[in-house]
Amino acid sequence: MSTSTLIMAVHAQEILDSRGNPTLTVTVELGGGLQASASVPSGASTGANEAVELRDGDASRYGGKGVRKAVVSVEQAIADAVRGLDALDQAALDHRLIDLDGTSNKARLGANAMLGVSMAVARAAAAAQELPLYAYLGGRGATLLPMPSMNVLNGGKHADSGLDFQEFMIVPVGAPSFAEAMRFGAETYAALRRLLRKDRLSTAVGDEGGFAPALPSNEAACDYIVAAIEEAGYKPGVDVAIALDPAASSFGSNGSYYVGRNGGRIDRAGLLELYGRWIETYPIVSIEDGFAEDDWQGFVDQNAAQGGQIQVMGDDITVTNPRFIQEAIERKAMNAVLIKLNQIGTVTETVSAVNLCHRTGWKVMVSHRSGETIDSFIADFAVATAAGQIKSGAPCRGERLAKYNRLMVIERELGDKAVFANPFANQPRLQERVQ
Ligand code: PGA
Ligand code: ZN
Repeated sequence: MSTSTLIMAVHAQEILDSRGNPTLTVTVELGGGLQASASVPSGASTGANEAVELRDGDASRYGGKGVRKAVVSVEQAIADAVRGLDALDQAALDHRLIDLDGTSNKARLGANAMLGVSMAVARAAAAAQELPLYAYLGGRGATLLPMPSMNVLNGGKHADSGLDFQEFMIVPVGAPSFAEAMRFGAETYAALRRLLRKDRLSTAVGDEGGFAPALPSNEAACDYIVAAIEEAGYKPGVDVAIALDPAASSFGSNGSYYVGRNGGRIDRAGLLELYGRWIETYPIVSIEDGFAEDDWQGFVDQNAAQGGQIQVMGDDITVTNPRFIQEAIERKAMNAVLIKLNQIGTVTETVSAVNLCHRTGWKVMVSHRSGETIDSFIADFAVATAAGQIKSGAPCRGERLAKYNRLMVIERELGDKAVFANPFANQPRLQERVQ
């Protein structure tokens, strides 16, 4: 074994994310002198079972959100434990981190500390092999570009728009390539801006780059998006469709939900019916976290009633954890899973989560967090794992575009080998609309 890929040093530093909250950047140095860095994202509407993001809790700095403790985790315990490991053995590295932490939820070292090291090592190893990250992680077969879902209207915990549904996304299902998908999306986004301006509504943006106007209802958000798709010259549901992430844990629990301007209560069956009406009215291809993370029955009912028509996807309920994904498989609670590296905390475990979905025949969407940096790891990761879908916010804000732009570069680099496919091509309603 050559010593050039052995881990020599690991450093971490507190930096700021796109909301101005502290996060970590980690740098790994290999024996051959190569260095690589990675930065860690942070969510706002987090699942209760996510791996622990270690924060200082020292109210005198950043309102308690400092990450100096996580920096210490990296530079002391983790650095001592991984020095001398071969960066080319990602699984061994990640298992060393998991053993060193010793908890089931990464509370001791912090999932933020662990993920920063895990990603930086993958990047250093790729550089040592002189391979792009997607090819290092995914091999020669890594040629599938993901369908993007772009979050053009922001609500919930990501904006002050008053919308209780968190994300209204556009999905360029009719685009022939990833680059064209971005054009369809950006043109629709620009049309949406024009429509909002015309109606004297705010075009200031939320955490994920989508607009955050004070709209009267969740339905109005969908109406604006359909109008924007048409205004941009596209056919709703054929060229550009809609995906939703209501993030229902933020407006309900125990099968009770509080939806709409007046926050009226509806029960599980009422919310399911509401989605059913929306699926009839709007060109919706996917609903993520339509029910709260403690409402397994809501997911099971939705998947039984609507899973044949749309993608029913888990996020807060599955938290990229193979244990919960396995439970979802046994309960037939969904047909797709959202994947976020920092929900589980290492690259190896995230790959396991994706592979479990692939083996089950479930769809996969790799996701950013609402608090991001310009790190584009998830772009390469989505290609490496043949995820088929990605969400990285609107085509706006540098930390969102960093991922989409990286994918455009990867697509071009792959040239003739690049594959781009509509993951919703088999949905019956999409087929009807195309005819
Ligand atoms: P978060 O939201 O990054 O704020 O958790 C994203 C999502 O719910 O998908
Ligand atoms: Zn979500």
